Amino acid sequence: MNDRISLRNLTWEYEQIQDALLPAMEKLMVEGSFINGIEVERFEAAFASFTGAKYCVGVSSGTDALMIALLSIGVRPGDEVITTALTFVATIEAILHVGAVPVIVDVDKRGLIDPERIEEAITEKTKAILPVHLYGIPCNMRRISAICKKHGLLLLNDAAQAHGTIAQGKALGSIGNATCYSFMPAKTLGAFGDAGAIVTNDMHISDKARRLRNHGRTDKYNFLEIGYCARMDALQAVVLTTKLGHLADWIKKRREIALVYNETLEKNVFELPSQNEKKQDTNSYYVYPVILRGEKANRDWLLTQLSLAGIETNIYYPQEIPAIESLKEKVTICGTVVNAQHIAKHVFAIPMNPSITVTMAKKIATTVNSLATSGDAF
Ligand SMILES: Cc1ncc(COP(=O)(O)O)c(C=O)c1O
Repeated sequence: MNDRISLRNLTWEYEQIQDALLPAMEKLMVEGSFINGIEVERFEAAFASFTGAKYCVGVSSGTDALMIALLSIGVRPGDEVITTALTFVATIEAILHVGAVPVIVDVDKRGLIDPERIEEAITEKTKAILPVHLYGIPCNMRRISAICKKHGLLLLNDAAQAHGTIAQGKALGSIGNATCYSFMPAKTLGAFGDAGAIVTNDMHISDKARRLRNHGRTDKYNFLEIGYCARMDALQAVVLTTKLGHLADWIKKRREIALVYNETLEKNVFELPSQNEKKQDTNSYYVYPVILRGEKANRDWLLTQLSLAGIETNIYYPQEIPAIESLKEKVTICGTVVNAQHIAKHVFAIPMNPSITVTMAKKIATTVNSLATSGDAF
């Protein structure tokens, strides 16, 4: 291939929105209202509706969203929060920052928290379950919601990778006590820097999150509790509102690319976690993960060859949570995490963004196939 194909194409995204964005940015800069304010409110209303929730609270990052949401739903120091062995460190950091204990359970073959492993992790200290909708794939929320109901547990979704994802017919924002999103630039909906949001159907959770993001304020001079400086910048809100108008279409494009990958990639060589979408589920394809079959597969070699062929790849994630230096002493592991270990060793992601055409997707998939089946991949 001549031109390099990147995982993301933020230049393409910018080109789609610049005509609408530049006047909106200029208006904001002239008016000079940069923190919270009308533009943040406008985005919050639009994003609440997009995610199927009543309320949305814009914050400064996905990590802050998780931390503030944990506090807002009522997780306290010493509580246990059950979550997955395969996620970005931020999920676990947020639990630790509020003084709670992350209890790690293994994932299924797709890399998502395995509901069958959750109940054995429940103790009298368990307060919440925190599923991560990794790669844009929805977790089995019917099962997880039923476990929460049975044991009286809170449910908080980490949807940092799952804007537009639908689980068993329900938008993620309408499931559980609250759902958190990240808008860091590479995300399916990305800002021009860091930003995040908490969505919920519960007015009390929304009110508490709204206070906590802004120093615990109820108004200018009244501070009800110790909070954070974790507000959303109005400039980011303008970017996000503008991009949100395109998001359904961009997710449709991601799904078209995924269809080509699902059909073309060699099933004998790769496991495809995104294949066989369950009825009533909608994967929003934040990334397209591919898992090399066979213990002897040489991922490093394959990724080098793909890079030489002009195809960018990335690994989400090269280490399961209990193997990460900063976290290993701080988490409680329930049982083994063999599936997460296997995925961490064999997974890689191929380009996935709405600028990729069907023809490009076919070329990418056939190049991946031919490199993996020739030479030193095994
Ligand atoms: C699963 C997951 N959770 C949380 C986060 C944290 O989001 P942010 O980088 O916006 O703080 C991310 C983003 O990288 C993520 O992928």
